[in-house]
Amino acid sequence: MERQDQILELLYNNTGEWLSGEEISSRLGISRTAVWKHINQLRESGYIIESSTRLGHKLIPGNEMLTEFEIRRRLETRIFGRNEIHIFDETNSTNIQAFMLASSGSPEGTIVLAEKQTGGKGRLGRSWASPYKKNLYLSYILRPSIPTIFAPRLTLVTAVAVSDTFDRFGVINHRIKWPNDILFNDRKLSGILTEMKGDCDSIDFIITGIGININSDPDDYPKEIRETAISLKEITGSEINRADFLKQLLFNIEKRYHEFLDGRFNSILSEWTAKASIINQCIKVSNFEESYTGIVTEVNSDGNLVLMTDNGIKIVNSGDINFIQGT
Ligand code: BTN
Repeated sequence: MERQDQILELLYNNTGEWLSGEEISSRLGISRTAVWKHINQLRESGYIIESSTRLGHKLIPGNEMLTEFEIRRRLETRIFGRNEIHIFDETNSTNIQAFMLASSGSPEGTIVLAEKQTGGKGRLGRSWASPYKKNLYLSYILRPSIPTIFAPRLTLVTAVAVSDTFDRFGVINHRIKWPNDILFNDRKLSGILTEMKGDCDSIDFIITGIGININSDPDDYPKEIRETAISLKEITGSEINRADFLKQLLFNIEKRYHEFLDGRFNSILSEWTAKASIINQCIKVSNFEESYTGIVTEVNSDGNLVLMTDNGIKIVNSGDINFIQGT
């Protein structure tokens, strides 16, 4: 553990109380001047620490830092985030970074985060707005031993895990919009982008990227999406600690992923279906090639929409949906 992290740990163990410089210096075997230097650096990186020459140092609760130390001290997972954690202040896209890491051998459960993405990727070639230090931009590596045809199921599994996390944070009235958006009052709270490397027979790795609007305000977004995006802060009325949200999210992702690997996909799909309230709805689905209107009879186990149209049953695997009024 690095010196600053050791000092932080001591401060955390005494949160809200004074800890003398002498005590810190003797516990860590460093000079009191070195303690001051590290405390100043911690303050510069954003921690709120009060210092007094007589009393020592005191960590004030309520720090909102997305650092490896803050993530690791919260983790309740067995695999996710337990090994490699990569955090960028700014990067093109965490999915691109995770893809490169996976290509050079990083293990399952490796997580990649960024404070800002300059080329955040969305579905269907879109971009993902990624304002600095406001939200969560997370990608992680999976290496499941499953047939390639089952890979699309993982997007549904992830959507349920993200939805579980919103439930835990009190956003009970959200819903899943096919295939993997999480909406609140028809505005987008979260999106998921799953990418894969493999061939017809086997999967080399899967990168799941999740964007979650946590503390952003409408002004943080480009004009085009100001009306269609929403953040957790806007819904709950208070700032959310991103590391706390991430801890719960990783826990839920790991839990749902293992349920999936243990053969319990059908029950996850039922939960997905309940949270999507899409069955028997009349919708229009459009993608690059085509658009169909019809009644949704099912979301099948590959995550495809099964639509009853005027021209018979259509199975659609990608696109955007719009609900047709009056159904
Ligand atoms: C969508 O709804 O269109 C999917 C959006 C996925 C955005 C996330 S943010 C973290 C990860 N890195 C990316 O470049 N994209 C995903």
